[in-house]
Amino acid sequence: MSRWSSTDAPRGDAYDERFDRLAAAGHDVHGEASFVMAYGPTSVLDAGCGTGRVAIELGRRGVAVAGIDLDLAMLESAQTKSPGIDWIHGDVSNFVIPDDDGGVRTFDVVLTAGNVMIFLTPGTERSAVRCLADHVAPGGHLVSGFQLTERRYGVDAYDRACASVGLERVARYATWDGAPWLEGVGYAVSVHQRPGAGHLEPAGDAAAQRTWRADDVQVRPAAD
Ligand SMILES: C[S@@+](CC[C@H](N)C(=O)[O-])C[C@H]1O[C@@H](n2cnc3c(N)ncnc32)[C@H](O)[C@@H]1O
Repeated sequence: MSRWSSTDAPRGDAYDERFDRLAAAGHDVHGEASFVMAYGPTSVLDAGCGTGRVAIELGRRGVAVAGIDLDLAMLESAQTKSPGIDWIHGDVSNFVIPDDDGGVRTFDVVLTAGNVMIFLTPGTERSAVRCLADHVAPGGHLVSGFQLTERRYGVDAYDRACASVGLERVARYATWDGAPWLEGVGYAVSVHQRPGAGHLEPAGDAAAQRTWRADDVQVRPAAD
């Protein structure tokens, strides 16, 4: 059973309400989409897409998007908001999206935003990384943002899983707007790349876009 299915987090439209409130209060709720756009993708798979929060914004910015999620209540909201997007009901630790020629459909960016990696069924993270990586085009990127909490899945295991399927780590930040990542911070945005043709480079260094203060970055308390 996935960790997500055992949380009492709001689902569907109730999940979106929090982001609607933040947006109404003037907060930027599209940090993930802006981060991904810096890589100039023409196609993105939003894995663990939930209500389509990020995928729909990427679609609005001209990217061909598909979303996959296991939670039907989340997908139902996505489908209602944006029926034109390919919403797929599936488990990211065990899926194949076929292309028109019977192969595997690949994307310039495969994204897991909003803690998907730590909401999986414990023990399935490595197979999830393998499935996600299978859908990354040559030169494309796997982008993942999740909280770092003691005794939960962490960046070292994530890096090892990526390396085992041929993805190279090319960047890591502490936030979606590019705060520098330091050992001990409470969140990581990781970017791994599949080597190969069609190499996509980010349009700019996200971290260079602003000046960082020490209290921008949350440092997790040391382990006991
Ligand atoms: C906190 S929500 C994030 C949703 C969206 N990515 C966002 O940022 O708004 C976590 C999502 O991960 C999905 N999820 C958890 N385990 C999954 C799995 N094994 N396969 C597909 N989706 C999964 C949940 O259904 C849920 O929609």
